[in-house]
Amino acid sequence: MEPAVLALLKKNSAHFVSGEEISRRVRISRAAVWKQVRRLRAQGYLIESLPHRGYCLQAVPDCLLPEEISWKLPTASFGQSIVSFEKISSTNTAAYTLAEQGLPEGTLVVAERQTAGRGRLGRAWASPPGGIYASLIIRPDIGPELSPFLTLLTACAVTQAVRGYSGIRVDIKWPNDIYYQTSKIGGILTEMNAEMDCVHFVIIGFGLNVNSSAAGLPAGAGSLSDIAGKKINRVGLLQEILVHLESLYGEFRQERHTSILGRWREYSCTLGRRVRVAAHHEVIEGVAEDIDAAGALCVREANGKRRRVLSGDVELVREPDQPS
Ligand code: BTN
Repeated sequence: MEPAVLALLKKNSAHFVSGEEISRRVRISRAAVWKQVRRLRAQGYLIESLPHRGYCLQAVPDCLLPEEISWKLPTASFGQSIVSFEKISSTNTAAYTLAEQGLPEGTLVVAERQTAGRGRLGRAWASPPGGIYASLIIRPDIGPELSPFLTLLTACAVTQAVRGYSGIRVDIKWPNDIYYQTSKIGGILTEMNAEMDCVHFVIIGFGLNVNSSAAGLPAGAGSLSDIAGKKINRVGLLQEILVHLESLYGEFRQERHTSILGRWREYSCTLGRRVRVAAHHEVIEGVAEDIDAAGALCVREANGKRRRVLSGDVELVREPDQPS
């Protein structure tokens, strides 16, 4: 349980609370209040103190714990219930099991690290300490054919959040890779439990290399802290992702896919580029022209033929006169 002094400071973080008031409300001596504040500071809580005014909580430690993530989280449902692990095989696997047990939409599963993190197309997802590994349970009232949009909207939400929170201009490589220039920073794995015409639940899993050291990441991957040249607060960034996710999910429920496609096009680094797509036993090469209403990538081949790709791996091919 959260110490009473911390709970009080969290609830009243918009202003200072005097030592006398804390002592009265928590029913401990003034000396004990001071001791608690010292202990909390040692744990990483930033508590300002001013003579005659008292104490004010400014920041919480950057740990992916329910009590820190939920502090000042302005969402209605996403992340309002949180299950956290120091270490887990995969947050997607854990969230899937919890969804089967009936946990509600908006439940977030987070971990400081994963021992068997999963990526798209059966790949592994390296999950060293310092990253964000999170999976959200949602129960959308849609048919399975619309589920690719949940992946696209998550990629948009993550991109918006990273750009807004860190100032780093990441883009989306089709369908859902988060890139900064040529380095992969994050990815999304959406898993669904559905019947022919109805979705029971969807797990939206996202992994972001935030303060991860390059040594723990595979070749071609980068981390936000390396790009920014400083550590980035994961709790704040995760909150921002949840806010954008909830807002785009709301838009999706109102307008279905139209608004999401517009945003995805805006954030894409794939459209307009020459691409090589490894898809189902063949490699398609051409110019990525658009993404269609089913979330498929439309590629114009050199022979003029337009091909639709629903799943695969995209490589951006450098034009001969393109700067590196
Ligand atoms: C990809 O780009 O291949 C998708 C990577 C998705 C990784 C995240 S980390 C949190 C969640 N749990 C997992 O096992 N995978 C996703």
